[in-house]
Amino acid sequence: MMNWHEVDTYAKQWITEAGEKIRESFKEVLTIQTKSNADDLVTNMDKETEQFFIRNINHTYPSHKILGEEGFGHKLTDLEGIIWIIDPIDGTMNFVHQQRNFAISVAVFENGIGKLGYIYDVVHDELYHAIKGEGAYVNDARIPDLRDTNLSEAVIGINATWVTENTRINPQILAPLIKDVRGTRSYGSAALEIAYVVTGRLDAYMTMRLSSWDFAAGIVLIEEVGGRLTNLEGKPVNLLEENSVLVAKTKIHDEIISSYILKK
Ligand code: IPD
Ligand code: CA
Ligand code: CA
Ligand code: CA
Repeated sequence: MMNWHEVDTYAKQWITEAGEKIRESFKEVLTIQTKSNADDLVTNMDKETEQFFIRNINHTYPSHKILGEEGFGHKLTDLEGIIWIIDPIDGTMNFVHQQRNFAISVAVFENGIGKLGYIYDVVHDELYHAIKGEGAYVNDARIPDLRDTNLSEAVIGINATWVTENTRINPQILAPLIKDVRGTRSYGSAALEIAYVVTGRLDAYMTMRLSSWDFAAGIVLIEEVGGRLTNLEGKPVNLLEENSVLVAKTKIHDEIISSYILKK
């Protein structure tokens, strides 16, 4: 049996150390490269941070597997065993352009079940963390269970790419939703936006395409406060593929799917 409290202590130690290194990097010149297109950025700090986690995990838990955005971990074809799912910097564009609104996201899953989840807002030194079944916290403060809100009073996280043509969803369905809610926000870090749903700062966050490192920690956190994370059809997400994601308070989650996304 895994001692999850021991793993939790290591995870927090490594995340804190990685955060310090990232804050120190603000004084230095970053090496910035592009990946799939000119807007898809990666820096030396994304890569170094992922490698830092991998070195520590391999040393302390050599049998654990690692899935990381920058590809220094394993190529996984199944979810068996203990898997660390790591986004070393979520919100790289914000990191490069704003030096704020980015996070380290780390989750530990066992046989497909989320056990530990961490989203670290590096600049605010705020660590959102949860051990499955033991509640969610931000630093030392317990995060209360979510309370349902009416859609008319909801603030939802959504970004402007939804108005562009895409293969997943008809942008037309959005106008009624945006009219009906109180407001919309876009922060540019999926992990932080999920953390904001966990803490009730946002009532929902929806997005067309994420990988598991963007939301794996969020799954563990949202379950601890009674919220829901699925794809946009309300089905479970797949950690080995890209997914659309809707994370929200339960009532709003169901309402967005039935009254807007799947509405005939
Ligand atoms: C991105 C951010 C962004 C989301 C993108 C992600 P990255 O992650 O979370 O908010 O809209 O889909 O890829 O590349 O900065 O780690
Ligand atoms: Ca990226
Ligand atoms: Ca990301
Ligand atoms: Ca990233």
